[in-house]
Amino acid sequence: MGPGALEVRSLSVGYGPVRALRAVTLDVPAGSVVAVLGGNGAGKSTLLRAISRTLGYHRGAVTSGTVSYGGRDLRGASAARVVASGVVQVPEGRQVFARMTVADNLRAGALGAPGGRAAAREALARVHELFPVLADRARQRAGLLSGGEQQMLALGRALMAHPRLLLLDEPSLGLAPLMAARIAETVQQINATGTSVLLVEQNAALALRLATTAYVLDVGEVALHGPAAELATSDEVRRRYLGVVDETAAEDAGNAGAAAPTLRRWTA
Ligand SMILES: Nc1ncnc2c1ncn2[C@@H]1O[C@H](COP(=O)(O)OP(=O)(O)OP(=O)(O)O)[C@@H](O)[C@H]1O
Ligand SMILES: [Mg+2]
Repeated sequence: MGPGALEVRSLSVGYGPVRALRAVTLDVPAGSVVAVLGGNGAGKSTLLRAISRTLGYHRGAVTSGTVSYGGRDLRGASAARVVASGVVQVPEGRQVFARMTVADNLRAGALGAPGGRAAAREALARVHELFPVLADRARQRAGLLSGGEQQMLALGRALMAHPRLLLLDEPSLGLAPLMAARIAETVQQINATGTSVLLVEQNAALALRLATTAYVLDVGEVALHGPAAELATSDEVRRRYLGVVDETAAEDAGNAGAAAPTLRRWTA
């Protein structure tokens, strides 16, 4: 693994007695887009919280395993230090400061980021280039933006912190197809500048198009992982996450994944 790689090893997480992740192992090589798929409650957000060291805000804790970024173990690091090291999360539910202006939301994203004012100006120019609407609405309260625009603002705010690895929690949730496609395009543009992306999505079709590698989480465990293109053709993924009703696949239910031999199936 080169510099800037994220390595999650045998990570288990609990919220009190609730076990949310069990021995999850995952890699995000520097410069890549990696997708994590899975249904409600599979542990997708928990995984991102463990990486960004924000589990404590949700009364959760890592019970075993490690997360390292660029070869440095993040155990014991504060959430702020993780951001300063270049790992920035966009939490689920497009959380913006509704009563603050769009401009102030973006400014808040630059707090604690390296590089001072010049870097913040440069980042703002880049965000405005990606999302011109955020420049047009700079003085408006963020709460007045549409859902899609708020998602752009949440993404823009994360970009203000100069991420080298962006953790995205369901950026397309609740967006009309056109807006979701626009967000996907932006993720590609962000990745093209060298930023790695760990993308959590229920929209498997969108995520598998963007990612090179994908993982499927099922009740806290990695059920499948492999090249995104191969997962996209796997019967199990097609049936469960792409909504493809395929009679042959249904008959083969007990034999899922057989069509994609290089996928590694993990059983507990
Ligand atoms: N703060 C919390 N306290 C207790 N249990 C929690 C908490 N947050 C999540 N859980 C539990 O941990 C498990 C994983 O939840 P998580 O939110 O990570 O799933 P998810 O894959 O992100 O789901 P969704 O697609 O609905 O966002 C679930 O069983 C959930 O009920
Ligand atoms: Mg979630």
